[in-house]
Amino acid sequence: MKKLILFLSSIIFCFNICLADDAKIKDDSKGNKTLIVYYSWGRNTKVVDKKINEIVKGTIFEIELKVPYTTDYKEVVKQAKKEIQNGVRPELKENFSGDLSKYDTIFIGSPNWWGTVAPVIMTFIEKNNLEGKTIIPFITH
Ligand SMILES: Cc1cc2nc3c(=O)[nH]c(=O)nc-3n(C[C@H](O)[C@H](O)[C@H](O)COP(=O)(O)O)c2cc1C
Repeated sequence: MKKLILFLSSIIFCFNICLADDAKIKDDSKGNKTLIVYYSWGRNTKVVDKKINEIVKGTIFEIELKVPYTTDYKEVVKQAKKEIQNGVRPELKENFSGDLSKYDTIFIGSPNWWGTVAPVIMTFIEKNNLEGKTIIPFITH
């Protein structure tokens, strides 16, 4: 299990694959106590998330913003820089509506934005009590 965790937490992929849209919460868990939370602006992180879930078969939660970012790459790069410099916490469209106490392992995935996670990941972490959980971060760049 440790090897699997190390492998998954060090995954760095950069590829574009078109996938059909999923529900924002997708439960393949059948009692499995693993939650996979991710934010993806351009889909790379979403692809990795799906690969992880093929292995761990948990519950997926896609983080969305109340006010989505522009689809213009240059603009989002500028906006993200400002937000990260100013410690902005963008509002979630909605928080995870399931029962977090059911999960003991939580994967948290983000694109690399300016050498760190997308700010909305920090919003999610600060809004939810993750005490006692095993957190497995993963990032795409
Ligand atoms: C706002 C922004 C900032 C980024 N900053 C970096 C960076 O600092 N280093 C890097 O390797 N890639 C950076 N990238 C590229 C993304 O990390 C990469 O394309 C990632 O896989 C995108 O994931 P997504 O498709 O799930 O959004 C940045 C992309 C964006 C949009």
